[in-house]
Amino acid sequence: MRYTALMSVKVKVESVSKLFNDERGEGLKRLAQGQSKERIFRETGVTVGINEVSFDVNEGEIFVIMGLSGSGKSTLVRTLNGLIPPTSGKILIDGTDVASCDKKTLRNVRREKISMVFQHFALFPHKTVAENVAFGLKVKGVDKDRRRDEAMKALEKVGLDAHADTLPGSLSGGMQQRVGLARGLANDPQILLMDEPFGALDPLIRREMQDELLVLQKELKKTIVFITHDLNEALLLGDRIAIMKDGAFVQVGTAQDIVSEPADDYVRAFVADIDRSRVYTASDIALDAHRVPLTGTVADARKAMEAADTEILHVVKDGVPAGLLTLADIKDIKPQERVMNVMHAHPPTVPQDAYLNEIYSEAQAGMPLAVTDDDGKLVGVVEPGSIFTHLANEEEATEDAAETSTSEDTQETKAKTQAAEPA
Ligand SMILES: Nc1ncnc2c1ncn2[C@@H]1O[C@H](COP(=O)(O)OP(=O)(O)O)[C@@H](O)[C@H]1O
Ligand SMILES: [Mg+2]
Repeated sequence: MRYTALMSVKVKVESVSKLFNDERGEGLKRLAQGQSKERIFRETGVTVGINEVSFDVNEGEIFVIMGLSGSGKSTLVRTLNGLIPPTSGKILIDGTDVASCDKKTLRNVRREKISMVFQHFALFPHKTVAENVAFGLKVKGVDKDRRRDEAMKALEKVGLDAHADTLPGSLSGGMQQRVGLARGLANDPQILLMDEPFGALDPLIRREMQDELLVLQKELKKTIVFITHDLNEALLLGDRIAIMKDGAFVQVGTAQDIVSEPADDYVRAFVADIDRSRVYTASDIALDAHRVPLTGTVADARKAMEAADTEILHVVKDGVPAGLLTLADIKDIKPQERVMNVMHAHPPTVPQDAYLNEIYSEAQAGMPLAVTDDDGKLVGVVEPGSIFTHLANEEEATEDAAETSTSEDTQETKAKTQAAEPA
C-alpha cells in the first residue's frame, strides 16, 4: 500500500517461532541450523508451527496470510492474540508485547483491542442472534441495555438486524458467518483476526461475503489479519499478502507483486491458476493519454497528434474526458473547425481502481477506455487489446505492460487507431 510510511503500525511481529513438543529445545537449535520442518519432525518429533516470521500490519490495512493446510496460519494468528505463546520472538499489539506481558495486560488487550472470527461460526445454538453477538460484551462486563444496543449496531452493519431475535440454526451458512462477523465487530475492536472465516461457505456465498467485507472495510477501516488457503481470496482482499510454507513466510507483497513476480516455484504454482481479472486494475495497464481541450480546434488536434506521435486523442473539458478524436475523423476537416463538432462524444470511461473483470464489457466496443481518477479527470488510457493480453496468464504480459507504459511504440499506436476507427 502506497501510504505505508504515514500509517501507524498496529501489529508488529518480530522473529516469531513456535515449536510444538520441543521441551528440550532441540527443535529450536536445529531450526537455527537451517534444518527443514520435515527433518526436524522426523528426527526429533518436534513440530515447527512457525519459523522466524516477521511482519508489520498497518492501521486500516487488510493483511492476508495465505498458505496450504498445515503451513502454520492458525498457529500464527493465535499467537497474535496470546492464545498460543510463541517459543521465541516478539508480538507487539498496538505497542504491547503480548508474548511477554502479564496476564492482566493480555486480558485487556484481548478485550479492548482484538476480535477473532473463525471458520466455524461457533455460535451458541440456544442463544438468539443478538445474544450471540453480545456475548463478548457480556464477558467484558458491559451492562444489558448497552449490550443489546451494541449488538444491534453490529447486526445492522452486516444487514442482519431483522434477524436479531431468531436462533442461529434458522439462518443459512452465509448469514451465520455474518453473525460471527457481527460478534467480532460488536466490541468495536481496532484489530480483527479472521481465520478462514469464509472457508466453509459455498463459492457463490463466499464471493458475496468477500465483496461485503470490502464494502464494510471501506467504512470501518479496521486493521485486519485475514487467513485463507485460497489465493484468489487473498489477492482480492489483501492490501498485502504473505505466502506461508512450512511455518515460514516465502513472500510478502501486493497482489500485483505476487502475481507478476512469484518468489519461488511454490508461489508460482499458486499463481498459475488464479483469476487475473480480479488482480489487475485499469491503472495497472493504462498508458499515457494524449489530449486536446474541448475548446480546441482541428488544427490543435493535428498538432497534438503529431507531437505525441499518435492517431487518437481524448478531448477533455477541465481535465474530464468529453470525447474521442481519431486522425481519420479530422482528415478532411478544415483546421479552424472546433473539435467538439467532430469528436465522438461520451467516450467509454473507467475509474482507475476498477478491476479488469469490471471493465471487460466497456472494452467490447473496441474503443480505447479513458481512465479517470477520483475527481473524474483523465489520467490514462487502456487499450482494449491489453486487457485480454493481461488475462492471458503469461508473465510476459506484465513485462509488456512495463515496456509499453514507458515507450511510444508505433505498433501500439497503430493498434490504437484501428481499434478506435468507426466500422
Ligand atoms: N497443538 C499442537 N500440537 C502439535 N502440533 C500442532 C499443534 N497445533 C498445530 N500443530 C502443527 O503445526 C503446524 C501448523 O498448523 P496450523 O497452524 O494449524 O496450520 P494451518 O492453519 O495453516 O492449517 C502443523 O504441522 C500442525 O500439525
Ligand atoms: Mg488453520
